Amino acid sequence: MRLDFKNLNPLQRYKIMSHTVVPRPIAWIVTEYKDTINIAPFSYFIPLSSEPPTLIVSIGHKKNGEPKDTLKNILKTKKCTICFVSQEMLKDMHYTSKDLPYGTSEAEYFNIDTKRVFEEFPPMIKSSPSAFFCTLNQVVDLKGSKTVPLILEVEKYLVDDKFVRDKEKLHIELDLIARVGKEYSICKDKITPPVIP
Ligand SMILES: Cc1cc2nc3c(=O)[nH]c(=O)nc-3n(C[C@H](O)[C@H](O)[C@H](O)COP(=O)(O)O)c2cc1C
Repeated sequence: MRLDFKNLNPLQRYKIMSHTVVPRPIAWIVTEYKDTINIAPFSYFIPLSSEPPTLIVSIGHKKNGEPKDTLKNILKTKKCTICFVSQEMLKDMHYTSKDLPYGTSEAEYFNIDTKRVFEEFPPMIKSSPSAFFCTLNQVVDLKGSKTVPLILEVEKYLVDDKFVRDKEKLHIELDLIARVGKEYSICKDKITPPVIP
């Protein structure tokens, strides 16, 4: 099959991209505005660079045309906390993709516990094995797009000690879930790379 992307509609493009770029990591993003904690998952998400330590996430708009709450909050506060998702957290993570009105907290609506780790950043999801605490580096102007890519800079990191195999070598081993199309996969099986001759 050969296709010209110009002749495809956005849903068709999404289907191809989300089944081809696999697995996609999931950023479970916590933002905060006026004491309301907002939580939502995003998988148009990938690391960008280690220097500066940056990630990119693309966030769209709601059906009513307003920016999604996460986008609104990051643009307002310039901060977010990105939590990573293990298998047991799948249900909670998926639930938080529900479109709730701005100002309604997914943490309260779905009874998800959060904990404040750094005073200057939104809290993290308590059961998450690790999190990045980020500031907004820049908004990418993707001409004509309804999805807004944000470059986020990692300022601080937390990982549950039980996933740290070697503290000095910074050997961290997390069993996370990722997205394949609209489904999920478990990133558990690892393959040692061959020695290049
Ligand atoms: C696993 C998963 C990944 C998602 N990835 C994205 C994404 O990359 N960009 C996006 O705009 N929406 C994405 N969504 C949909 C948002 O989570 C959903 O629109 C949510 O209601 C946004 O919440 P907010 O308005 O509180 O920010 C994803 C949903 C799921 C379940």
